[in-house]
Amino acid sequence: MCPRGQQQSLLHSAYMERLFNKRILLGVTGSIAAYKAAEVVRRLRDAGADVRVVMTRGATEFVTPMTFQALSGHPVNQELLDTEAEAGMGHIELARWADTILVAPASADFLARLAQGRADDLLSAICLASDVPLAMAPAMNGQMWQNAATQQNVRTLVARGVLMLGPDAGEQACGETGVGRLQAPEILLAGLAELFQSGVLSGKTVMVTAGPTREAIDAVRYLSNHSSGKMGFSVAQAAVEAGARVILVSGPVAMTPPDHLQCLSVVSAQEMIDTVLTHIHGVDIFIATAAVADYRPVKAATGKTKKKAERIQLELEPTPDILAEIKARFPRLFCVGFAAETEALDEYAQDKLLRKGVEMIAANWVGPAATETGGAFGSDSNALRLFWKDGSAELPVASKQKLARQLILQIAQLEEMWSQRSLDDDKVVTLPDSGRRPGR
Ligand code: C5P
Repeated sequence: MCPRGQQQSLLHSAYMERLFNKRILLGVTGSIAAYKAAEVVRRLRDAGADVRVVMTRGATEFVTPMTFQALSGHPVNQELLDTEAEAGMGHIELARWADTILVAPASADFLARLAQGRADDLLSAICLASDVPLAMAPAMNGQMWQNAATQQNVRTLVARGVLMLGPDAGEQACGETGVGRLQAPEILLAGLAELFQSGVLSGKTVMVTAGPTREAIDAVRYLSNHSSGKMGFSVAQAAVEAGARVILVSGPVAMTPPDHLQCLSVVSAQEMIDTVLTHIHGVDIFIATAAVADYRPVKAATGKTKKKAERIQLELEPTPDILAEIKARFPRLFCVGFAAETEALDEYAQDKLLRKGVEMIAANWVGPAATETGGAFGSDSNALRLFWKDGSAELPVASKQKLARQLILQIAQLEEMWSQRSLDDDKVVTLPDSGRRPGR
């Protein structure tokens, strides 16, 4: 049997991983246990969760909003009809923002109002407007907890799928001993973490290249393409949601990078490959979604080239093929490439799979052929066909976010089988020195 300390640290590391990067809306209601919610915020932050606190008026009688603001790093929302707060993150936005809502402590009154579906204060309105899992950590006097009305409300909420965490038994603030104490923060967070599947990429590091590159012609002009970076940003976001540590290497795009990842901005193909190589140490999966310019001017003029009457010629040379080069240098790194084609999608994708020696190619139509799949540059939807050595899959038209999540699931599955196979091979063959993963 594990000693108690060891058991607690196992529990601790399991929930830390599941709560990492999760958006937790913590509701604090009017109970003497409200002060214990401060410890809950601290531990959620330690686990890597983003926490926003909503307090009922009753809660502010016990603890000041300033405490929670300092601990969560965000302003505390309190009133439903506060125009200033609504101008920041309004109640509907808060409801949409959260991955889960935890109310700790949940008073008898709050459970009653939630059971009735009331929306006359900010916290109850958010709970009603949200479709994410709700978890309640009740804390109240033992008699109030035992009361038939409270028990009926709890049964109603549980029947609706609300998770009840506690209450615990023991000595209470009112001097009585019984059931009604707020569950200990450690146990509470472990229960909350059960709401989240362990991410399919937990413990993995993923690098994603995204966007176009710009290849300078002179001081003010460049060669580039129409890539918006939307697919790459969605893939990076989906990898974060799947629990991975993510490094996004992006060419010039108009979007704000997703939260919880390291974004490195580059301009040219040369800068992109240099940045990739500098940060490739420890990466498990490399996903090249960038629309890297294939050619660059052999010599970029330092000043602005003056307009002349006669024709001028631009001499171009190929840019480094980042994906092919990374795969060649690190054969044991799981690599995924993209193929955007205007014709013969399957043949070109299969050819790219072999030519670049990568583990998967995600192919999509572009140009006039893409009208049915909505795959034009800059559009919000797309469809993908995935090819790997001994299989393929079709991901029908969907938003780029949804497609990215499906793609990440497929990559996670393949990578697991692939790395298992590599481990088995290792037992038979000793690979040469270059046949390793970066940094391993
Ligand atoms: O060779 P092609 O451009 O069709 O291959 C597309 C795939 O290769 C994409 O995954 C793209 O990100 C990657 N690529 C690259 N460096 C280049 C050209 C393409 O990484 N110079």
